[in-house]
Amino acid sequence: MLNIKVEKIAVPKSKPDVNNLAFGTIFTDHMFVMDYTEGEGWHDPRIIPYQPITLEPSAMVFHYGQEMFEGMKAYKAKEDRVLLFRPEMNAKRTNVTNERICIPQIPVKDMVQAAKTLVNLEKDWIPDSPGTSLYIRPFIIATDPYVGVRPSNTYKFMIILCPVGAYYKEGINPVKIWVETEYVRAVKGGVGFAKTGGNYAASLKAQKLAKEKGYTQVLWLDGIERKNIEEVGTMNVFFKIDGEVITPSLEGSILPGITRDSVIQLLESWDIPVKERKLTIDEVISAYENGLLEEAFGTGTAAVISPIGELNYKGKIMIMNDGKIGDLSNRLYKTISGIQRGDIEDSFGWIVEV
Ligand code: COI
Repeated sequence: MLNIKVEKIAVPKSKPDVNNLAFGTIFTDHMFVMDYTEGEGWHDPRIIPYQPITLEPSAMVFHYGQEMFEGMKAYKAKEDRVLLFRPEMNAKRTNVTNERICIPQIPVKDMVQAAKTLVNLEKDWIPDSPGTSLYIRPFIIATDPYVGVRPSNTYKFMIILCPVGAYYKEGINPVKIWVETEYVRAVKGGVGFAKTGGNYAASLKAQKLAKEKGYTQVLWLDGIERKNIEEVGTMNVFFKIDGEVITPSLEGSILPGITRDSVIQLLESWDIPVKERKLTIDEVISAYENGLLEEAFGTGTAAVISPIGELNYKGKIMIMNDGKIGDLSNRLYKTISGIQRGDIEDSFGWIVEV
């Protein structure tokens, strides 16, 4: 159990208009900080006013990108209850990432306690209008002042919070996705399964080019054969083909999404056939051409469920479900967000009350 010291802000900031929230631009009054020193372990857990941090220019995170992050959300439910969605999964995934990039492990219960304590202090910041939540961003950076390449001996673990609306400007409306054929995001044996900033830095160029062509995001193909569908970078993907829902299997280069896992469990509970397996872009094209591609959607903490309205692969444009929200995407969105907000009974044990 962490002994978290709390230093409160002298003058709280004014809260934003909950009906006009973008994603990730406004931060709450406080943040959680904990340091790691080799030989001492994690120490000095504290909540302090949200503020800039001071680091040496030689801090290792700036040079070799030894850092990780997570994404979670807190929801305001009826009777002022505050709910988290599967926070232990984020804490477990943190340690999977940490193991890969040589950051020390954090006990799952400590990370959940830190998130709960901070969210509880900031509960007035949780927006309650439809489609909004309080986004929780835990992250760890390497802080040794050293420009040689090796794992750092010191780290900072922090949690910041932002009240958010939809991740994409489209909200729950379908997004247009560019299937990337030149650049790759990750390969098996690399860090594609880990939530580390380098994966996102590697995605920026293709994302920028896709944006210039009018697409919201890119769909990554595997880095070797360039034919197996991987993920969208901010989301995992699902395709409904001839009554069966297919999502790429986790083989080391895809992020193991918590919303992805929840969608699989929900589909199984609804007796809708769902498979985790290799899925090629050619299979998707042929399903499209034969009229069997019924729906496609992305899943993620930030994005929740985001229907895919259009795919562009080498200039071939595939319009899904007439560019409208599919019934399954809609049902999944309503169910997951209903469970997250406490409006639908949670028969899976996913909800953790703060
Ligand atoms: C999330 O869905 O929480 C993510 O971390 C994706 C992202 C905003 C980079």
